[in-house]
Amino acid sequence: MASVTLKDLTKEFKEVIAVDKINLEIKDKEFLVLVGPSGCGKTTALRMIAGLEEATGGEILIDNRVVNDVSPKDRDISFVFQNYALYPHMSVYENMSFGLRLKRLPSGKPWPFNQRKAFSNDEIDRRVKEAARLLDLEKLLQRKPKQLSGGQRQRVALGRAIVREPKVFLMDEPLSNLDAKLRVQTRAELIKLHRRLGITTVYVTHDQVEAMTMGDRIVVMNGGVIQQVDTPLSLYNHPANLFVAGFIGSPAMNFLKSTVLTDGDKLMVDTGQFRLELPSKQSGRAAAYIGKEIIFGIRPEDIYDKSLEGIVKPNSGNCVTVGVDVIEPLGSNIGMYLTKGDVQVVAMIDSKSLAKPGDQLEVVFDMDQSHLFDPVTEAAIY
Ligand SMILES: Nc1ncnc2c1ncn2[C@@H]1O[C@H](COP(=O)(O)OP(=O)(O)O)[C@@H](O)[C@H]1O
Ligand SMILES: [Mg+2]
Repeated sequence: MASVTLKDLTKEFKEVIAVDKINLEIKDKEFLVLVGPSGCGKTTALRMIAGLEEATGGEILIDNRVVNDVSPKDRDISFVFQNYALYPHMSVYENMSFGLRLKRLPSGKPWPFNQRKAFSNDEIDRRVKEAARLLDLEKLLQRKPKQLSGGQRQRVALGRAIVREPKVFLMDEPLSNLDAKLRVQTRAELIKLHRRLGITTVYVTHDQVEAMTMGDRIVVMNGGVIQQVDTPLSLYNHPANLFVAGFIGSPAMNFLKSTVLTDGDKLMVDTGQFRLELPSKQSGRAAAYIGKEIIFGIRPEDIYDKSLEGIVKPNSGNCVTVGVDVIEPLGSNIGMYLTKGDVQVVAMIDSKSLAKPGDQLEVVFDMDQSHLFDPVTEAAIY
């Protein structure tokens, strides 16, 4: 059981700052997901925690002990890579036990008797069988990797990490080589496994859906910098800035360059093509931007077809008539590309909607779910 703390952790390569002063407290037993686009520094951060990459600044603590100078094998960490390689000539059992069989402890005797095996054969057998049971590999222990499916091979790679009974799991996009269906299945299995073992886990992915479904908490990174650390729902409902708002959620949030205006005692956003009334509970924050440009954000799923019974009551401040450009039926929803003049909006509309391409459609914006961002700092105004 272990906590992991990062203090101003930094990695500078010759030309790039891959990780820029990140601070993070990963709690004991937590499943923390690091998510961000390719090249944002996820792997580098993970490799520094593992000790495979030396930090150029800052500290890494495991259970409150600074481990910057502790070698990887003494950090009590298991690392599962994206491109795991199993030994092709070894059985599943041998692949899973290999690391344990190799592990030596100093014995105090002179060379070549100066090391002894860290684990007895019985202990190794117990651990491999336990991991095989957890991962449903018991019947496959004598097979060679080429006799396994991709998903089974991935489970063997996980098994190899589990048998070490580490304090911390580090996983770097471990599911990215699996096909979509298997990825969803294995995702669920990993979560169950984490519940059973309760081992502190740092899980890296570029896939925001994976992050949202797996993480107790999520760290969103961009350009080597942490953008926000929060629970999945808080990230979705209260993104701290434009980057997080656009990265979390699919299809992505609509961003419309707008101006804040007053209309009597109401605050409005003017997109240039239509006006919407800002929620009164946000008027305190929005008032500072009266007469100024802001970026108005609304998620596709917060726009409704007015002719259907919706959860949002239509009023004069939240309805707009738009043109329906393109329709993508997805089963439960319809993705709609809507336009009004030069303003374009993507909406996820209930599939009961009868709107067709070329139609004019009245839509309702759920303004309570809207967002405003400062165009200069890109920080959320609300
Ligand atoms: N060994 C290296 N030498 C130089 N630059 C590197 C090295 N490893 C990674 N980088 C750079 O550091 C940045 C972060 O890379 P990485 O941590 O692999 O990102 P991610 O895992 O988020 O895709 C990238 O710009 C990458 O090109
Ligand atoms: Mg990576």
